[in-house]
Amino acid sequence: MTIDPTFLLVRDRTKARGANDPLVDRCVLGTVGRNGDAALRTLVLRDIDDRLALFYSRSSAKHAELLNRGLQGSLLVFLPSIGIQYRIEAQFEDIPKSVIELHWQLKPGAAKRMDSIYERHPQSTVIDDCAAFETLFAATAPPRKSPPNGAGVFVIPELVERLELRSDPRMHDRKLYKRQGDDWHVQQLVP
Ligand SMILES: Cc1cc2nc3c(=O)[nH]c(=O)nc-3n(C[C@H](O)[C@H](O)[C@H](O)COP(=O)(O)O)c2cc1C
Repeated sequence: MTIDPTFLLVRDRTKARGANDPLVDRCVLGTVGRNGDAALRTLVLRDIDDRLALFYSRSSAKHAELLNRGLQGSLLVFLPSIGIQYRIEAQFEDIPKSVIELHWQLKPGAAKRMDSIYERHPQSTVIDDCAAFETLFAATAPPRKSPPNGAGVFVIPELVERLELRSDPRMHDRKLYKRQGDDWHVQQLVP
């Protein structure tokens, strides 16, 4: 039985957190954009009930792009403090609204206000009148509950590539893990 790479990711993030890694709670989500090009953006990488999770607005481009691909996408996690990179191909699964609600309450006020605004002004769309938008933001109170578009997904890794940078004269270590039912198949890659 091969080691589950998600355990390795947990272990590496714990180590990176101990080293005050500035990227330990960040990831880059990759989707296929409107023109078929790669679309990338930084997101907070959360841990909910021992699972990796992302929070976003359903009004956003990334949500539409994930839906277009049956909730499949890519994640990049780089932990510079320990020189380790994960490239993950994943299936995503909607987080139940009750769970979203609990975590949404912890958001800062400005983010809550933006979530409210996204209901009428979808995220990622163009602002025509910046002054009017600033006024709208200033006049919007943080809602008490997550608005309907407040959403999130659990990450279910299917393919995980772990690259561990090693100092000269050693060779970097690069392994590819493929999910096979309840197990993982591992291959060593040329680094
Ligand atoms: C450090 C950092 C953390 C971010 N975290 C989130 C996040 O958790 N959720 C989110 O929707 N956007 C987050 N963003 C903003 C996204 O990178 C992106 O600009 C926004 O979600 C719109 O993306 P889209 O147009 O591809 O949908 C974050 C940006 C930065 C720089």
